Amino acid sequence: MALGGLFRRREKITTIRDERLSPGVRVDSGNGKANAGRILLSNNINVYSEVLSIPDVVYNIVMNLAGSRFIRLDVEGSVEATLDKLASQVAPLLEGPGPYYLYAGSGDGVSIRSLIYNGRIVAFVLEEGRMVYKGIEALEHLARLRGSYNASIGLVKTRIVEWSPEYSVGIPVLDKQHATFFEIINSIFESMVTGLFEDRGDNIMRQLRMYTQGHFTSEERIMEKYHYPEDLYEDHRKHHNLFRGAVDSYYEEYNTGNRVAVAARLFEVTRTWLRDHILGVDKKYEEYFKMLGIKVEA
Ligand SMILES: [Fe+2]
Ligand SMILES: [Fe+2]
Repeated sequence: MALGGLFRRREKITTIRDERLSPGVRVDSGNGKANAGRILLSNNINVYSEVLSIPDVVYNIVMNLAGSRFIRLDVEGSVEATLDKLASQVAPLLEGPGPYYLYAGSGDGVSIRSLIYNGRIVAFVLEEGRMVYKGIEALEHLARLRGSYNASIGLVKTRIVEWSPEYSVGIPVLDKQHATFFEIINSIFESMVTGLFEDRGDNIMRQLRMYTQGHFTSEERIMEKYHYPEDLYEDHRKHHNLFRGAVDSYYEEYNTGNRVAVAARLFEVTRTWLRDHILGVDKKYEEYFKMLGIKVEA
């Protein structure tokens, strides 16, 4: 089906549902609870369904689930009827905006993965054997299957990294800057699983750029001031420059290309940086200053 057709179809679904609302039902209170009994489709469902195709993101979702509940999910008829079923079976379990991760599987090799945030399906993926359906297409296929599924639904904790003393480089001002980097990683993850990267990406990218400019300069100045050995300093700067360059190119790609793909790549490179750079390259100056008994004043 042509993309235009899908979008028209989606609008129709949403409209039908809105018209059906009984008087007194609040459409969007922002707390998710008022949406109990009805689940709508996010406008960006086709875009964000890609998020559930990224194994690393799915792994982090599954590892950060709180309070999973198990239900039986019966699906029938049309997309509209499927949404009704989802609403009646899933919505009563939602206790806040989420994000929630729904996983369902049937005995005949069909599996479903979905993200629900603020009463809306943000992402939806259906796998059947080697076939993978995403977004609206996945919901349409699910409706055709009319299956019965064992499902679990759990709240996704969106804080996936926390600064802790093991990350300390012995210089409070730099530790504080590193802590902001942890927050950037949490924001990237949260914006992906809530389907908000389109809105928040610009802000996140700007924060990341500010971090690479400000923090790298702070570190380099300290290394210069306290005569960190030339070869180690140059090697460290090389790492910084590579990362700065990577962030700049992601920023460009963000403005011109596929934003969800940028989010996924950022998620990967920032977490790698945490492990390889902060715990590896940065720790070397801490060891050096400690070894020489240098007290860094910054
Ligand atoms: Fe650093
Ligand atoms: Fe560094």
